[in-house]
Amino acid sequence: MCGIIGYVGPREAQKVVIDGLRRMEYRGYDSAGIAVVGEQGLQARKKAGKLANLETELTAQPLASASFGIGHTRWATHGGPTDGNAHPHLSASGRVALVHNGIIENFAALRAELEDEGVGFDSETDTEVAAQLVGREVDGGADLADAMRTVCKRLEGAFTLVALDAEQPDRIVAARRNSPLVVGVGEGEMFVASDVSAFIEYTREAVEMGQDEVVDVNPDGYAVTDFDGAPAPSKPYHVDWDLSAAEKGGYDWFMRKEIFEQPKAVADTLLGRFDPNHQLTLDEVRISEVELKTTDKIVIVACGTAFYAGLVAKYAIEHWTRIPCEVEIASEFRYRDPIITPRTLVVTISQSGETADTLMAVRHARQQGAKVVAICNTNGSTIPRESDAVLYTHAGPEIGVASTKGFLTQVAACYLLGLYLAQVRGTKFGDEIATVMAELESMPAKIQEVLDRQDRVLALAAELRGARSVLFLGRHVGYPVALEGALKLKEIAYLHAEGFPAGELKHGPIALVEDGTPVFVIVPPQGRDQLHDKVISNIQEVRARGARTIVLAEDGDVEVEPYADVILRLPRASTLLQPLLATIPLQVFACEIATLAGHDVDQPRNLAKSVTVE
Ligand code: G6P
Repeated sequence: MCGIIGYVGPREAQKVVIDGLRRMEYRGYDSAGIAVVGEQGLQARKKAGKLANLETELTAQPLASASFGIGHTRWATHGGPTDGNAHPHLSASGRVALVHNGIIENFAALRAELEDEGVGFDSETDTEVAAQLVGREVDGGADLADAMRTVCKRLEGAFTLVALDAEQPDRIVAARRNSPLVVGVGEGEMFVASDVSAFIEYTREAVEMGQDEVVDVNPDGYAVTDFDGAPAPSKPYHVDWDLSAAEKGGYDWFMRKEIFEQPKAVADTLLGRFDPNHQLTLDEVRISEVELKTTDKIVIVACGTAFYAGLVAKYAIEHWTRIPCEVEIASEFRYRDPIITPRTLVVTISQSGETADTLMAVRHARQQGAKVVAICNTNGSTIPRESDAVLYTHAGPEIGVASTKGFLTQVAACYLLGLYLAQVRGTKFGDEIATVMAELESMPAKIQEVLDRQDRVLALAAELRGARSVLFLGRHVGYPVALEGALKLKEIAYLHAEGFPAGELKHGPIALVEDGTPVFVIVPPQGRDQLHDKVISNIQEVRARGARTIVLAEDGDVEVEPYADVILRLPRASTLLQPLLATIPLQVFACEIATLAGHDVDQPRNLAKSVTVE
């Protein structure tokens, strides 16, 4: 949700900023803009629409050479996606340019105050208020970092701000509250950005920024303070992936690349989880075993695809730990006064670690005394920083807006957590845990097998490309898989799609089935799952009403054959692990059908990858 970057150093600032924006465009793509300070003073260009529009503008109206600059790619909140509302915003004197990610909640009062002073505004954005306030400070003689600190103390809401001052060269100042910001440390050059992908081409050395901090960067270094100017401890880290992970590598879409990265992503998430004593370990645990033993309820909180991963996990966690487990949409959680006590374990799942709704749920849960475990893919992001324990999914950067490897690795990580709790609480014997772990460790090879069978799915997408509506059915863990399959189609193919519990269909949704309606059905393992035969009955129910049935069934399940128009075969796996396989054909199907429809799969309309506003 908005990508921002700042650069100071010997390179051509325009190139670094535009390349960085290209890598972060998945965060927002309603408009883009850049400001640099060079021989001709401060120059800015901004354009509605995707980054390509800005690049066309820069060709038509080139910027002078510059060694420091800032840029922004936007997902609109306040004010429509127009040229005027695009960032950067300039102060009245034209000295300061500023970009922003987040929402400044008290912007109306601040704007009124500035208007009373005679300041005119060029946009409808909340951001311009911050640009004007910083401008007013520096016009009055303030140092840029002091100006930023003074202004930040007046702002309410969520913000990452990056500013430059035409009269304070080779220097950029950035601040953050509730929105992401990371510093990149190069040799004789420095970067600030919403995420490391923006500067991974130049450096893999990064610094985490804490809450309510300001960083002042110049080519030779950086200084971090709190909003009062007191030095703040910084946390440098090395990024364990490189530029190739942030590029498409020959695939047409990041999404397709990420689908095909799933065997490795799941393997990496599982890697090294047993210590030498054959005990499962998490990444960072600041929760005592006594607390885990007395946990009487687990609440999983997440948004979007991560929420569906949580729905899958509930079945396994309850089965293995016998602790009641609820799964809740993060944006609903805190506002319904949930029953959370110090004995509740809240598990948040977030690929980005920055989703505002999930972050607010973390804070609410901790205020109620609950312990929070974060399952997250982004090292050092806000949600794990504010949690009591962390389990990282080692999926590498996920850039396609529709999450794929995020989902599979989240399910795998939740299973690790479930097994860990079972180990601590003694609800499973060590050999039982080892058996499940062995099966989990066999999954990457099976995931690869599913991917090797993609041709059948591609052909199906070509066949069904004209469909108006697609239904997905599953039971038990197959139900959240059905929801995820439908979400993928909505997100990138803009197709009406619904996921239902297969047994519930006859209580209403079956009325949606018309002659030829495609209905995907996820069939549990044959002979090892009590629901197998019931799902076969459910297939017959929709088929009898004209549905075209696309059945996902394991190898060797011949019972489904009479009722399936199309069978997508899955390698054999136990019921709880089947989602790690059954989800994949649905991802491939959505990606292909959206591609055939001519949609931008990686940047679907109206969406953003990381939603940093509530
Ligand atoms: C956005 C994305 C989804 C994602 C959700 C949660 O809506 O478009 O793909 O599932 O956020 O994101 P998170 O980073 O918290 O997993």
